Amino acid sequence: MTDGSEERRDDLGADASAEWLSQIAAAPDAQALQELRVRLIGKKGEITQQLKQLGKLDPDERREQGQRINALKGRVEEAIEARKAELERQRLDAQLASERVDVTLPGTRPTQSGLHLLTLVTNRLLDVFRSLGYEVVTGPELETDHYNFTALNFPPDHPARDTQDTFWTTDGRLLRTHTSPMQVRYMEAHKPPFKLVVPGKVFRNEAVDVTHEAQFHQLEALVVGERITMADLRGAINEMAQALIGPGTKTRLQPTYFPFVEPGAEFAIWWTNPRTGREEWLELGGCGMVHPKVFEAVGYEGVTGFAFGFGIERLALVPYAIPDIRYFYQGDMRVLEQFRGVL
Ligand code: FA5
Repeated sequence: MTDGSEERRDDLGADASAEWLSQIAAAPDAQALQELRVRLIGKKGEITQQLKQLGKLDPDERREQGQRINALKGRVEEAIEARKAELERQRLDAQLASERVDVTLPGTRPTQSGLHLLTLVTNRLLDVFRSLGYEVVTGPELETDHYNFTALNFPPDHPARDTQDTFWTTDGRLLRTHTSPMQVRYMEAHKPPFKLVVPGKVFRNEAVDVTHEAQFHQLEALVVGERITMADLRGAINEMAQALIGPGTKTRLQPTYFPFVEPGAEFAIWWTNPRTGREEWLELGGCGMVHPKVFEAVGYEGVTGFAFGFGIERLALVPYAIPDIRYFYQGDMRVLEQFRGVL
């Protein structure tokens, strides 16, 4: 016979198959194994080609060769599967070894975060005012002269403007020196009656010291309606003080001047200073009845109202015996950590 089938039969003899099986068993990785699979039993693989040639043989030989080649194909498939499982096991062993965790090592303590004391105090204040039915609103830090001063009845050359040394921008605007401008903005956009509080950052061109920062926070309150009186103002300040410090906390108003209220007063609450243990007045801020000129500027008629505003740092410094206002803004963890979760 010279049709080449003899030769091909030799190719598929014991030697060739032993060689293939040992190549499969030694395949270094999944890719090499796949290449062998294609080479041997893929569509154009060597064993597949041999199977395709069977048709040319006479029936007896076809049966004999067919059984032999199919048996070989089966052994090759088994060997490939076995090597595949082996490689997978090796991969998993290596991964397990590299990701080994020593559960007896001491753990790493996770960093614990917390809110800044000023945020805690502000949230507490807002809770109190929300529970008293006040709406919480915020306003812009970059303001106009009109809202910060003029509409609040500070005439252009009024000396009261000097008490709030101002940071001006080159285009004639300013960083608000208090939260009172939101009184005007809110009144322009709403009709009375209403009760609102405005927490926010304010800026003054101050010589910084233990009690004065160039940037601090205020909380402003404004209540407008029919027949709102000074007694309502006293009541609101009392309620705030009692909610913050405790039942029976006393408050005090002392007359003073702010252009946007008449009469105007400074208010203080009576409390025990935790640093000294002594009872004393804690000066918080200013208050008064909304000046008729302010109502005029926003076109209100036939209503009265009161407003008060105070520095939030004051309310955080003294109760927590913080000796210097600048500590709030230095980000020193030794200071900040002491107040984690105090409120
Ligand atoms: C005002 O800013 C008025 N807008 C308050 C007001 C509102 C009066 C409504 C009437 C009606 P004054 O300039 O006094 O007022 O500031 C209020 C409070 O802000 C002060 O009592 C103090 O607690 C705080 N404060 C003022 N300057 C500083 C500063 N440089 N650093 C920290 N807190 C300050």
